Amino acid sequence: MTVTEDADGFIELDRVEKVFDVRKKTGFLKRERRQVRAVDSISFRVARGEMVGYIGPNGAGKSTTIKMLTGILTPSGGRLRVAGIDPSRERTRLAHRIGVVFGQRTTLWWDLPLIDSYRLMHRMYRIPDARYRANLDRCVELLQLADLLDVPVRQLSLGQRMRGDIAAALLHDPEVLYLDEPTIGLDVISKARVREFLRDLNAERGTTVLLTTHDLQDIEQLCSRVMVIDHGRLMYDGPLAGLHEAGESERTLVVDLDRELPPIDAPAPARVVRVEGPRQWLAFPAAQSAAPLVARIAAEYPLVDLSVREPDIEAVIARMYEERAIT
Ligand SMILES: Nc1ncnc2c1ncn2[C@@H]1O[C@H](COP(=O)(O)OP(=O)(O)O)[C@@H](O)[C@H]1O
Ligand SMILES: [Mg+2]
Repeated sequence: MTVTEDADGFIELDRVEKVFDVRKKTGFLKRERRQVRAVDSISFRVARGEMVGYIGPNGAGKSTTIKMLTGILTPSGGRLRVAGIDPSRERTRLAHRIGVVFGQRTTLWWDLPLIDSYRLMHRMYRIPDARYRANLDRCVELLQLADLLDVPVRQLSLGQRMRGDIAAALLHDPEVLYLDEPTIGLDVISKARVREFLRDLNAERGTTVLLTTHDLQDIEQLCSRVMVIDHGRLMYDGPLAGLHEAGESERTLVVDLDRELPPIDAPAPARVVRVEGPRQWLAFPAAQSAAPLVARIAAEYPLVDLSVREPDIEAVIARMYEERAIT
């Protein structure tokens, strides 16, 4: 069998499905069998060197997709290839070509100093000495790990541990890096460091990156292409700007008045979506300036304080659903 590597489809999914059988105890000796369709007929292609965001709410099927792409899980249906390899059939061969980082779980040895995990990986992956040293040096420098190498992993902060995990995933020069929620729980500075590193990695080495995240800012700063998944289905695949249009996203103006009042009479399409005592929430189109709305409220109401919230991804997705239901 010859393995062809289509330049357009370094990662290829063709109607991939994953169904989990779940048994739930519903009473004494009673069990109900239920099927969860975690990934429901998803097709996409990622070209070599692309940096793609894979986003969606909790339980959408993101991690399940990543696990199938590494070979940890076998698809229930459809066809999946990474670098021409069927991941679940040739998991070990694929492991030499991919790197994976799970934000919620470390691949490092908990009780050992960070450097010992790297030494173990050096041997496990049979990385040539020179290559190992060059990659380690580079990661240590760019991820600022020098002072952490002798620290046991359990003593690292979440941000430090994440940087340690990213380095671990890159020691064997993978062509693809999957990151599953790499910025979850990180502080602003750690997030910025991780993002900067990923941007450089992609630019300098052409590493293909598939990134799942809750954080729309990760995508805004890193990915020219975004895929949205919800309930196991691919809802959108395209540029981030197009996603906002597709979801007709809205921002929220949060207004604190000096007392409880009836909903503010706002000029359409702005409207009050929630009232809680003296606080009111107004939704307005994300593309529109908040200034006229703020000016009007300030002139006509006893305004104490206000803030503007950017659209969150879950709201964008929710609106995409509404749109599709209508059309
Ligand atoms: N091993 C499993 N057994 C049963 N159900 C699972 C398993 N893994 C995930 N699921 C279910 O599949 C769906 C998708 O989960 P997941 O891929 O983890 O979502 P996400 O990463 O987008 O939050 C969820 O409903 C989840 O409960
Ligand atoms: Mg997940």
